[in-house]
Amino acid sequence: MRILHFSDVHLPVRLLSVPCRDWMGKRMIGGANLFLGRARKFADGYEKLVALDRFRRELDVDLVICTGDYTSLGTRAELRDARKAVEPLMQAPLGYVNVPGNHDIYVFDVLRQKRWDESFGDTFGTDLPQYVVDGGRWPFVRLVGDDVAVVAVNSARPNPQPWRSSGKIPPLQLEALERILTDPVLLGRFVFVLTHYAPRAEDGVPDRRLHGLVNADEFLAVCADLSHGAILCGHIHRRYMVRAEGVKPPIFCAGSATKAGDEGLWLFDVEDGQVRATPGTWRDGGYALDPSAAVEV
Ligand SMILES: [Fe+2]
Ligand SMILES: [Fe+2]
Repeated sequence: MRILHFSDVHLPVRLLSVPCRDWMGKRMIGGANLFLGRARKFADGYEKLVALDRFRRELDVDLVICTGDYTSLGTRAELRDARKAVEPLMQAPLGYVNVPGNHDIYVFDVLRQKRWDESFGDTFGTDLPQYVVDGGRWPFVRLVGDDVAVVAVNSARPNPQPWRSSGKIPPLQLEALERILTDPVLLGRFVFVLTHYAPRAEDGVPDRRLHGLVNADEFLAVCADLSHGAILCGHIHRRYMVRAEGVKPPIFCAGSATKAGDEGLWLFDVEDGQVRATPGTWRDGGYALDPSAAVEV
């Protein structure tokens, strides 16, 4: 089975599509940041997603995983445009699994107006509904073929404070995750645990307090007994893997698939119980793998 993991495409915002009432508070500051340069780095997002789908088909990818941050400001127009843009990737033979990033539920109006649900609500669904505890949706589990399971928890939350972009997995979801990971139905399967926020940064230490996952240690403690699995995340816009003392299972951050000059992704091959992770990047107008940097998981 071949699995493509990408993240943090931060598709360009059509600023005129954002209604005046949405510009209050943090979105004004986020919009100013976009004007001041951040937008340039993500300007080719739509074209790159077309290339990513071409790459997906060329490599016969079975399952596609996205760990969030489709948008920048979490507006209704951005979420609708993002959904359309990833629709081709959703046609992978074994499906598409995603979680929201903090930018997709940027401030509370996204939740109040159910904007995320409007565009992506139909992409959720679980094979083990007995574990759903939070908001009727989380955590969710997908049993993929006979060899793989994907378990997702939501770490993204609105951050109305301009200085804060941290995340937290609600304790109820962590408790449910603990029970899921010991469910016999997962025995013998390689388990990918997804969440937007990275529980560790590239150097193996926790991310900054105002930017990282505030309960990263609790999350890692729940996952620690997972002997045949990996944590997949985004949020930090650099692709990396962490396999360090005290960090188990390994963490794969996909970085951003579209950030100019620093595009990243991971490709996982699952075969006969063995899993290989190969990093990918953007080269000469398309995505390419770097097999010399592949790692056995
Ligand atoms: Fe991001
Ligand atoms: Fe993020």
